[in-house]
Formats: sequence, structure tokens, C-alpha cells
Amino acid sequence: MKQLADPRPGAAPQVRIRPYERGDADRVRAMSALLSKRSLYKRFFAGTPALPSMYLAALAKVDHHDREALLALSEKPDEPEEVVVGIAEYIRDRAMPARADLAVLVADDWQRRGIGRRLVTELARLAARRGIAEFGADTLVTNRPALAAVNSAWPDARPERDGNTAAFRLPVYALLAGTPGIPVKPQARKGGEFHPGLHAQLRPGCAAGTRAGMA
Ligand SMILES: CC(C)(COP(=O)(O)OP(=O)(O)OC[C@H]1O[C@@H](n2cnc3c(N)ncnc32)[C@H](O)[C@@H]1OP(=O)(O)O)[C@@H](O)C(=O)NCCC(=O)NCCS
Repeated sequence: MKQLADPRPGAAPQVRIRPYERGDADRVRAMSALLSKRSLYKRFFAGTPALPSMYLAALAKVDHHDREALLALSEKPDEPEEVVVGIAEYIRDRAMPARADLAVLVADDWQRRGIGRRLVTELARLAARRGIAEFGADTLVTNRPALAAVNSAWPDARPERDGNTAAFRLPVYALLAGTPGIPVKPQARKGGEFHPGLHAQLRPGCAAGTRAGMA
């Protein structure tokens, strides 16, 4: 795993976040060099030496509505190109369009600098505008950093355990409550995608699309 120079202790102000664009495939592929097998295993629930090709190919399906991916890019001045140091994505559930699977991956040297939180918050902001009320997120029960991150963002969330997996249902608006420009409660849209009653019907689900890659 390539080591990047320590950016700075604490937060990561040199990182900007933007949606995945056509042309980013090689940039994301290069992120593999910054990932340990352990981080890859936690993200994909399988041993893989690099970001799976299926996952990289599926990023082309990002449509900025039903599928979104956000990149965290390092703006280090000594790097000729921006480096992808984090990626988070959601995939809307076709059967329950107010729900989407969520997954996050931050490069090892950049973890615990607030990047995961920033990615998820920005993703939630976009998801809320697109009628997504709930994220489903699976994590290994042994994945303490992910459990801590969920607990920090959603203190009330309680997972359902399925074998070695903890499945969370994470209300998007609970994360965004108090954020400027974001309503505290979901708004029903005329003819739109969000229906208030659906919130109660949402069931926990396996983030299958995000385990081995985006489906
Ligand atoms: C889980 C993961 C995405 C977290 O991203 P991150 O950028 O390191 O997290 P942040 O720095 O934004 O931290 C968010 C919160 O989690 C806490 N946290 C993160 N890592 C932690 C750790 N190792 N131990 C304790 N707390 C931790 C932070 O303290 C923070 O809480 P706070 O806001 O109350 O201070 C990252 O560790 C990762 O990519 N892991 C490998 C892949 C993975 O497990 N993905 C999740 C399953 S899809």
C-alpha cells in the first residue's frame, strides 16, 4: 500500500468533495494503492487485493439520481493530479424508492479525519432532494470504525444482526436536521418519489449491491 505523506492531524481541510464524473474511472482505480486489504475487506465483505473491477465498471451507471457516488479528492500541492482519498455511494432500492443502500470507503492514511462524515452528509443532502428518506447500511459486527461512525452520525440507530453483519436503517433527515436549507422533516411531494407512509413500511435490507460492488 502506497503511503501518502501525513496530510495533517485532525480534520482534512485539503480535501474537496464532488460527484463522480465520466473520466474519473482511472482516478478511482488508483485509490487501490492507498487501501489496505483490511479496509477493502470491510468495504466489500470479501478478500480482494484492489477495488473490484465489477465495482469500478458499475460506477459508470451513476446517474446522479437513483445512483450517486461522491469522491473526496486530495488537493495536495505536491501531487500532479488530485488523488481520490474517499468514495461514498448510494443505490436506490427499486422496490422501495424512498430507500437506498449506502457504502463508504476512505483511504487508510486519511481515516479518522472527518472525511467519511463529510461524504455521508453530502450524500444525504443530495439523497434528501431526490426523495430518499432512509439509507440502509451493512457493516461487519467487528468493524469498530464503521460502527463508531454510524453511532456518531445516528446515535439512535440500532442494527439488526444477521450472522456477522449489522444491518442499519438510517433516517436521512435525522442526519440533516438543523443543516441550513434542509427541512427537518421529510416533505411529501405531489407525484414525487417520497410518500410519508412509506417511511414506516421500510424494512431493513441487505446492502447487497454495495457488498461486492455496485450491482
Ligand atoms: C468506516 C470509515 C468509512 C469511516 O470513515 P472516516 O473518514 O475514518 O470517519 P470520520 O473521520 O468521518 O469519523 C466519523 C466518526 O466515527 C468515529 N470513528 C471513525 N473511525 C474510528 C475508529 N477507528 N475508532 C473510533 N471511532 C472512530 C470518529 O471518531 C467520528 O466520530 P465523531 O464525529 O463523534 O468524532 C472508514 O474507517 C473506512 O473507510 N473503513 C474501511 C471501509 C469500511 O469499513 N466501510 C464501511 C462499511 S461500507
